[in-house]
Amino acid sequence: MRVAIVLGTRPEIIKMSPLVRECAKRGTPYYILHTGQHYSHEMDRVFFEELALPEAHHHLDVGSGTHGAQTAKVLSGTEAVLSRDRPDIVMVQGDTNTVMAAALAAAKMGIRVGHVEAGLRSNDRTMPEEVNRVVADHISDQLYAPTEEARKNLAREGIDRGVFVTGNTIVDAVQENRKLAAARSHVLENLGLKARGFVLATAHRQENVDSPQKLNGILKALDSVGRETGLPVIFPAHPRTQARLKEFGLRPEAASVVNPFGFMDFLTMEASARLVLTDSGGVQEEACILGVPCVTMRENTERPETVSVGANVLAGTDPERILAASWSMLNRQGGWKNPFGDGRAAARILDHAEKGEDRFKG
Ligand code: UD1
Ligand code: UDP
Repeated sequence: MRVAIVLGTRPEIIKMSPLVRECAKRGTPYYILHTGQHYSHEMDRVFFEELALPEAHHHLDVGSGTHGAQTAKVLSGTEAVLSRDRPDIVMVQGDTNTVMAAALAAAKMGIRVGHVEAGLRSNDRTMPEEVNRVVADHISDQLYAPTEEARKNLAREGIDRGVFVTGNTIVDAVQENRKLAAARSHVLENLGLKARGFVLATAHRQENVDSPQKLNGILKALDSVGRETGLPVIFPAHPRTQARLKEFGLRPEAASVVNPFGFMDFLTMEASARLVLTDSGGVQEEACILGVPCVTMRENTERPETVSVGANVLAGTDPERILAASWSMLNRQGGWKNPFGDGRAAARILDHAEKGEDRFKG
């Protein structure tokens, strides 16, 4: 079995790294197809370097654009690579435009598609990611659901063949890198922070940061959490967010905006934070895995497991709600169950890929 591992954005590089490692360990032939959806050093190269990933064997250089333009470039670029270099299975991860378009290209060419992190649903079709998830799930041959909840979401849509509950590869990635991060990262010293003495915030969802009102609400919330708790608030801003802050002329007053961190520094920041405020999917999972309380600045989540175990609350983008939720979570001490698996997701995924039992093929 020859595997094509497709990735294009920061979370895909991180969450596919355990699969790359597992292929290498088993001697399973594979190649990496990088779509180039993310390309800035701090969104791309830094993760290849820190996670010691091999260079992408194929690079599409699609870059940024409207949803249609970006999706179209990934679709035609992936088709061209797959026709020159045909694998037995194409693995995609998550819910980005890269995932939806690469899955579609492979499905139309009769190549098996494996969807890592299948079955997540926010049930909010205004999110571009929700559309991508639904499309990718419905055309995939193997669906690697991270949790039982995700499996149930698929069953509700009539998808029950080819579905395997494997855990989420983010647990593999956190376990593989946490000690390394603690040894290598000097981020706390560099920023003058003490463990459990600061709040870490991220925000990049299109529906949040592209709206001046919502982005302003988030900034006001970060400011009031900082002022009222007396804890420094560190806000590593995604390039989309940095662009919108500039465009709308907005700046937080009390919170510190910094550039995105590499994975070693970010893991260290997350593990040491008193509280995490975020609208990111991966950050909700990591905070939960690391035992750090989280407030999610959204009205819904496709990671409801984090809420049911008591690790996360939903607070939308209203500053007063976020502040109240922050106070309610500030002194939570972890101790909840990690719902995302045991760190062996990548091995299970490759076992299933080798065995077959596909939804459509085989
Ligand atoms: C994308 C995904 C989102 C995921 C996020 C992870 C889609 C629809 N969205 O959102 O699901 O959570 O990645 O971070 O696929 N930019 C740079 N450098 C980069 C990348 C982006 O400057 O390396 C800037 C550009 O101004 C670009 C904007 O960020 O227009 C948005 O990038 P894009 O890839 O379209 O969406 P993300 O918001 O990154
Ligand atoms: N991350 C990082 N540096 C940062 C912010 C996030 O390395 O400054 C990592 C984080 O550890 C997580 C992933 O990026 O694994 C989450 O990606 P993002 O929030 O961009 O996307 P989402 O998970 O919402 O799709």
